[in-house]
Amino acid sequence: MCCGPLPVVSSRDVAFMAVMPLACSRRTASPVAGPAEGPTAGEGLDPVLGAAGFGDRLRHLLADMQADPRLTRVNRIAAALYEPATDLVKTFVHASDGPDPVGSLSVRLSAIPGMVEAARTGLPLVVDDLSAGGGAAVTLGLAQRGYRARCVMPVLHNGTLFGFLFYNSFHPGVFSRAALAALRPHNRLAAMMIVHELSLLRTVLAAVRTVRNISVHRDEETGGHLDRMSRYAQIVARRVAPLHGRSDEFVEYLFHYAPLHDVGKVAVPDSILRKPGRLTPEEFAVMQTHVAKGLEIVATIQHDLGFARLPHGELLRNVVGCHHEAMDGSGYPNRLKGTAIPLEGRITTVADVFDALTSVRPYKAAWSNAEALAFLKDNAGNRFDPDCVAALVDQFDAVEEVQRRFADMTDSAAAAD
Ligand SMILES: [Fe+2]
Ligand SMILES: [Fe+2]
Repeated sequence: MCCGPLPVVSSRDVAFMAVMPLACSRRTASPVAGPAEGPTAGEGLDPVLGAAGFGDRLRHLLADMQADPRLTRVNRIAAALYEPATDLVKTFVHASDGPDPVGSLSVRLSAIPGMVEAARTGLPLVVDDLSAGGGAAVTLGLAQRGYRARCVMPVLHNGTLFGFLFYNSFHPGVFSRAALAALRPHNRLAAMMIVHELSLLRTVLAAVRTVRNISVHRDEETGGHLDRMSRYAQIVARRVAPLHGRSDEFVEYLFHYAPLHDVGKVAVPDSILRKPGRLTPEEFAVMQTHVAKGLEIVATIQHDLGFARLPHGELLRNVVGCHHEAMDGSGYPNRLKGTAIPLEGRITTVADVFDALTSVRPYKAAWSNAEALAFLKDNAGNRFDPDCVAALVDQFDAVEEVQRRFADMTDSAAAAD
């Protein structure tokens, strides 16, 4: 069943979102101090647009929809993001009446013909009764938890696929033509929120790329290191985030922000950064300043781009500011210990070190995977978060897939190990 053309997001809509004031929640104490991110949540703002994070905004949106008599039987809304480089559709945020029936997932878009067609045409994909059988594991999971009807909407902007919005009901046949018409403005708002959120993110990432490009060419930063380590961070985060009450939204932002961990190295002279040998204590002290410099760059970008609210800005500052801290307090710059190191810092450290060990660097050959894993395990608990190390070890098939996909031409020896 299908209705008229989907209301895709227009440039005008996004421009509107870009100037719209967005509040964030009161900031909690952070190991890495950063600029204030805008007004405190609450007074005078629409609850959907004024909520602290995308997940909260989606929950308010679901409540708004359920207040509409035509949409009271919509019990779940979820957003998934599309990554063109890997063709993966990744769960991002959901709001449900009850526990999450899907969990953390990423699947290839090309493996789901119905969604490929929805992305091509911009039309919603409706299933009236999931219990009829067939379909992917996600469909079975939803049906097993009592969901019956489903509507999938592609999120398209200027011909680019950003992701999908999913609407589910415990009742069959809910997404009639009339219901889809009622859903239209809510879906448009949700789609605008996704486009706005990702546009902000892409602007930050583009600004950082510019900073890098005006500095001296750095093999370490421009090679596959950033592609690989951000995906290792994602693999680890998917496993450990639920243990700490963190959502897919956390995992997704960590994936995007992890490659910025060493942005401050633009301020370190090549004579130190590329020295083919041990650094002197004086040189090491200069090298360590890349953390503080990175935090300065993030603050400058945030200020200069005029962001009232950088999405998950604290997560970004913790990635940059805490990726050299160690569990036993022997790291830098603040010698934080254990869980005083933010989770995103602990994950980034394991992902970054594993890739550094298994890659060629000016001062060393690539270690084998076995050697690198042994080093991580030997240092789990003193230098590295043991849960993060275990997550990497337990999911090594996924790690090797990343190595195959993003191998450097010059240092693929470890991938062959
Ligand atoms: Fe670093
Ligand atoms: Fe790195």
